[in-house]
Amino acid sequence: MLPITATDSRLLKQIIIISTVVLIVIILFVNTRTYLSQFYQRKTSLVAPKVAILGEIHWEECVPAVENVDCGMIIVPKDYFNAEAGTASIALARYRAQKTTRRGSVFLNPGGPGGPGSKLPITLGPALAKLIGDDWDLIGFDPRGIGSTRPATRCFSSRLSSTAFFANTVIEQGITVSSISDLSSPLLYDELIEQHRQFLALKEVHAEICGKVMGDELRYMGTATVVRDIDFMSKIIEGENKKINYWGVSYGSILGAYLVNMLPHRIGYVVIDGIVDPVSWSNEPSHKWPINWIADAEKTYKIFLQDCSKAGPSLCPLTEYKDELWQNLERRFEDFFDAVARKPIPVPFGNRPGILTSGGARGLLRIALQRPLGWPKVAKVFSSALTGNATELYNLLVHPVTHDPEPYISPRLAVTCLDSPRPPSPDEFPTAEDLTKQGLKALREVSPHFGLSTGVGEPDGGCQYWAVDGPERYTGPWNATLETKMLIISNTADPITPKSSGLLVNSLMPHSSVIIIQDGPALLDFYAFSMYCKNSTGYFAGEMPKNGTVCPVDVATFPGEESEKHIQALSADDQELLKALKDLEANF
Ligand SMILES: *[C@@H]1O[C@H](CO)[C@@H](O)[C@H](O)[C@H]1NC(C)=O
Ligand SMILES: *[C@@H]1O[C@H](CO)[C@@H](O)[C@H](O)[C@H]1NC(C)=O
Ligand SMILES: *[C@@H]1O[C@H](CO)[C@@H](O)[C@H](O)[C@H]1NC(C)=O
Ligand SMILES: *[C@@H]1O[C@H](CO)[C@@H](O)[C@H](O)[C@H]1NC(C)=O
Repeated sequence: MLPITATDSRLLKQIIIISTVVLIVIILFVNTRTYLSQFYQRKTSLVAPKVAILGEIHWEECVPAVENVDCGMIIVPKDYFNAEAGTASIALARYRAQKTTRRGSVFLNPGGPGGPGSKLPITLGPALAKLIGDDWDLIGFDPRGIGSTRPATRCFSSRLSSTAFFANTVIEQGITVSSISDLSSPLLYDELIEQHRQFLALKEVHAEICGKVMGDELRYMGTATVVRDIDFMSKIIEGENKKINYWGVSYGSILGAYLVNMLPHRIGYVVIDGIVDPVSWSNEPSHKWPINWIADAEKTYKIFLQDCSKAGPSLCPLTEYKDELWQNLERRFEDFFDAVARKPIPVPFGNRPGILTSGGARGLLRIALQRPLGWPKVAKVFSSALTGNATELYNLLVHPVTHDPEPYISPRLAVTCLDSPRPPSPDEFPTAEDLTKQGLKALREVSPHFGLSTGVGEPDGGCQYWAVDGPERYTGPWNATLETKMLIISNTADPITPKSSGLLVNSLMPHSSVIIIQDGPALLDFYAFSMYCKNSTGYFAGEMPKNGTVCPVDVATFPGEESEKHIQALSADDQELLKALKDLEANF
């Protein structure tokens, strides 16, 4: 080895600098690629082709592969009223019909708005086929702005930056009602005004960011546009004249109501489950919607408390002993919410350091009511919180911060703010006083426990600040005549999509729909299982259930030995169906 001279040393330095730069570039490149492939997950191949041809559809194996499922993408007009706007690409997944006598396609929507429907065939194909029929292709798609569909709604660059904005605000944690014991307290009024002022200011910032970052791309996310997409996709996939079949839950019932009323002559079989009032959705500003949604929330809450007490502390630790008065449990909850209103709970070691407010805790309880089969778990989590450890409860509200795309709120607002009417001038914008009055009305007249608790989970409002209008906004009529009756499914104690909304849609289409009602608590029928309602899902095979059928629920909310016996007594067929329903409930 020769000693290194000065010249050599300069050269070496240059070589080191150059190779370091090259290395950094390589590392960055590799990192970006892995980052992007995480970003798009299974769909690296679904990036739109260079020249997008309208109506072009690709099907290929999903990545990773899923048995009997194809993943795909279809090119649709971005704006059905203006060809110059260009194209959009809709991400699809299809669980193929298992029978050789394939009957066509059923389009699916999982709710939200914001739920990526392409996940349904991928994660729940066999269970959905059990419910709908295995002679149909089941097609999930990511609606406009959502999931892998492009353009996507991305106001913030990542979950990290959206979390930085929403963390510990009333948007993340909901509105705190310091005590429900005196709803005419002037102190309470002032506290609500203060929180709603913050709420409105945050909504204004959020809307301005979305408008600036997304520009005109934000115009194409509304439900009416998604209806046109379903029509377009159905024509490409099944042919011009084949009827559209559809299955949608929760917000999917809004999409369903729009679909059948906008295009009645195109409609085949349609099931909607967990009904949201489409008249209010399309004709009232979004901050007014929740008062309708919580009509039955108190009923569900009472069932939760009663079932817990009946189950006893081994199954539901919120009760001190079996058959304790349910009002005692209710009082312990209120004492907890009041105490947390006076002193929010510090959570240093949760998914991220932070606090849990009373509004956040109450909002989580409201969400928990939607899924009775999750009650045993949720009862344990609340019981820990009530006895001093709120980490697990807090983790239900606050998720780990990552560089994934921002979740939920912006894609949801991109839909709701194009669907709901917006006041024409700032003089008519709702004020903190308006929101407070509306909230107090909901607490006094509809649900004293949850009248102001929908914001956690259903973060609507603030559409007056939204930057754009869509190409089309549908507002009715809602009384279409259909060749095949639409099937509507409601529950008697649904804390967020009340029976009254199901009855409303049914009454607007008395001869073009039938309603069946499951007699139990839950948001969706498969969140509570009724074998009787289920076996009437001969619907997609052409068997129309009798209008007004009421089905008892079959599965206990805090299952012990007895309910196990009940399940064992079911026929093999029913047990298989029940298994499919459990799969749906657990993974939906
Ligand atoms: C609180 O609960 C969390 C999650 O179950 C646990 O990790 C933590 O150790 C508990 N904290 C205390 C102080 O017991
Ligand atoms: C449907 O409703 C519209 C307006 O709401 C009304 O004008 C029309 O007469 C109704 N049609 C039928 C068939 O009832
Ligand atoms: C559905 O099942 C119930 C019992 O589980 C039975 O009584 C009823 O007749 C069945 N209905 C249909 C339409 O098969
Ligand atoms: C269908 O059943 C619902 C619920 O019982 C009822 O309100 C409605 O009037 C019925 N419709 C018809 C046309 O009978």
